[in-house]
This record gives sequence, structure tokens and C-alpha cells, in this order.
Amino acid sequence: MRSEEVFREDGQWILPTYRRLPLVIERGEGSWVIDPEGKRYLDCVAGLAVNILGYGYRPLVEAVKEGAEALFHASNLYHTVPQLSLARRLCELAGFPRVFFNNSGAEANEVALKAARFYGKRKHGSRYKFVAFHRSFHGRTVLTLSATGQEKFHQDLDPLPPGIVFAHINDMHSVEKAIDEEVCAIILEPVQGEGGVYPAERSFLHELRALCDERDILLVFDEVQCGMGRTGHFFAFQHYEVRPDLVTLAKGLGGGLPIAAVLFGEKPLSVARKGDQGSTFGGNPLACRAALVVVETVSQPEVLGGVQAKGAILAQELTSLQRLYPSIITEVRGVGLMWGIQVPNRAAETVQGMLGRGVLVNAANPDTVRILPPLSITEEEIILFVEAFSAQLEAM
Ligand SMILES: Cc1ncc(COP(=O)(O)O)c(C=O)c1O
Repeated sequence: MRSEEVFREDGQWILPTYRRLPLVIERGEGSWVIDPEGKRYLDCVAGLAVNILGYGYRPLVEAVKEGAEALFHASNLYHTVPQLSLARRLCELAGFPRVFFNNSGAEANEVALKAARFYGKRKHGSRYKFVAFHRSFHGRTVLTLSATGQEKFHQDLDPLPPGIVFAHINDMHSVEKAIDEEVCAIILEPVQGEGGVYPAERSFLHELRALCDERDILLVFDEVQCGMGRTGHFFAFQHYEVRPDLVTLAKGLGGGLPIAAVLFGEKPLSVARKGDQGSTFGGNPLACRAALVVVETVSQPEVLGGVQAKGAILAQELTSLQRLYPSIITEVRGVGLMWGIQVPNRAAETVQGMLGRGVLVNAANPDTVRILPPLSITEEEIILFVEAFSAQLEAM
């Protein structure tokens, strides 16, 4: 099908919930995607932080082929070796005792929030509230949207579930104000993604940990976007050297296949009971085989070191562009290979312009251009991005 035909028919059959860009992606190779007419685009979005090994990474393709030959699905009524192997590896890497698998970031956060409520009720009797943060994003189920600190997601959904209180990231005073005897957990993204790429400060996370210890409140890190090597450490909590009680992963974990995981620390594990959580597809053998390849690859020190080195180049180049174009770029924020570029009111225009230049970037909101390239992007490709971005800024 030609691109024009796809654009025409899309709106006829698919719920018009997405604001799609005029691009049909047919294939991918490395850090590049290709449309039906053969035009190539450098992908600095990676399927929203999913295709972390780029496209066509041979060991991943082979694992999925083998997995498809062997077994697509088994259900959690039975055991499978791929699920066990992935569980063991993730627990070892995290230093956590147990993991639970499901299918998406929202589902993983639901599980983490449920686990925190079980802890609050079973350990303390009456604790059920969550502290979440302004500008956060935790998913699109009603509970995870309710814990999402962006008003636009709450419209026409009321009444929202009670018991969610918001604080400001990097502001301990606002957290202390939000906490009372009924709070069972604090949930946050160590680096806020959808809100516009706002990294938490190291000292803030350490203070949160201390407060949670003092009050026996669980600390939940949503690493759906900033985990899986994105910061240059396998887990974002390792970048910050703060150990949460629950960690959620999704997006990059399957390298493109849907799978999510929740790591359980000792406290939530101590109250876990049979039947508390479940999922039909969760940890299915095909997705687990893919995820095992992704985890083994991304956890290699040279891959994580590469993310740090490439992140440093990006940081330097973006800072220089900010200096050159201060009337367009007011701030750059980020860590590793996750960056937000503040371009007040000009994010959509920038994304369109970059598309015309053969580079995919994303507008996290009307003011922020976000880049989340595959972790496998090369230094040369980063320079290509910088050149295209610089030309775009000049044109603006
Ligand atoms: C930090 C974070 N949490 C949760 C989610 C929801 O993930 P999913 O769309 O897989 O449900 C996202 C998606 O963007 C996210 O960035």
C-alpha cells in the first residue's frame, strides 16, 4: 500500500484517538525506519523508547523466530523456561528477590499500586493513599491516569478514585505536606518522560527514601520510560543509587514485543499472597525470549558505557545549540539518551520540520521536543541528528 492510501483509509477504520504524523513506517534497519516509497528516516523516538536495540538486531530476530517455532503462549497455569530465565536475570541485575510479569506500563503500575495497597492494609490496617507528582505520567487505566499529575488526562473521567495526593518533584516540603497516616506509597518516575523530561535530583530521591523508611511507606519507581539502560545504567535507580521497594519496567524490555515487569522488594513481597496478581499473557514465552536477549545485551557494561558516552555528546551538542539559538531553546534537560529540549510553543513545528529533514523527534508537549533514540544509535548518527536539528533551528 502506498502512503497516500494508508493516510486516506486510516481514519475510516481506526478510532481517531491519535494525532498521527504523515508517515507510514514499513520497515526498519538499525536506527532507521523506511516508508513504503523507500524514504529513510533517522529514528530518534524509537517507538517511544521501545526499540532500544534499533531495528533488525539479529540475535533478537533469531530469538523471536525460534520462539515462534517453539511456543507462542502457555498461560500462567503452567511453567515455562523462558519466563523463569528472564525472571532470574532481572532479579539478579536489580538485586531484588522477585518479579511479576504483565504486558504494558500501565498494567505494571497497576500491579505496583495494588501491591502497595496490600502492604498498607495488611501491615498497617488502614493505609491506602498514594502520593504522586505533578507532570507525571503512569498510564491510561483509570487508576494510573488518576495518579498522573496532568489535568488534561483527568477531563470527563470524574469521579476519579479517591486517595491520590500530588506533590512537586524535587520539593521535599510539598511531599511532607502530602503525607499523612493513610499514605501507603509514593510513586514517581526518576526521570519524568511524558511530562517533558524532568530528571529528579539525586538528593531529592535520597531524601524520599529516608522519609519512606522512617514512615514505613513504600517507594515505587516507574521506570517504564527511563529504565532499561536509558540513563546509562540498567535501572534508573542504579543511576541515582537509591533502592525503591517496587520498580516497574515495560517499553524497551521486549525490544518491540509487549511485555512489562514489576520488581518486588522485600516489603511488598512479605505480604504477597497467592491470587493477588495475575495476567493471561503476562510473561508469555515468546515475549520473554525476546526480553532475555534485550536484557542480556543492554546489561553489558560496554553498552551501558556507550549510552553514557553518547549521552555526553548529546548533552554537549544540545547545550551549544541552546547557546546559539537562545530565543528558540530556553532549556535542555535530560540524562543518558533521554532529552527534552524546551522550545516554547514551537514543539509541533520543530517535529514537522525535522520530519521533512528525514529525522524523527517527538513533541512531549507543545513546549518540549523529546528525543529517545535507540540505545544502539551510533555517534555518527547523533551528529547527523545534531546537523539536521541545527538546520531546522536556523530555518526557524
Ligand atoms: C513513565 C511511564 N509510565 C507508564 C506508561 C504507560 O505505558 P503503556 O503505554 O505501556 O501502558 C508510560 C508510557 O508512556 C510511561 O512513560
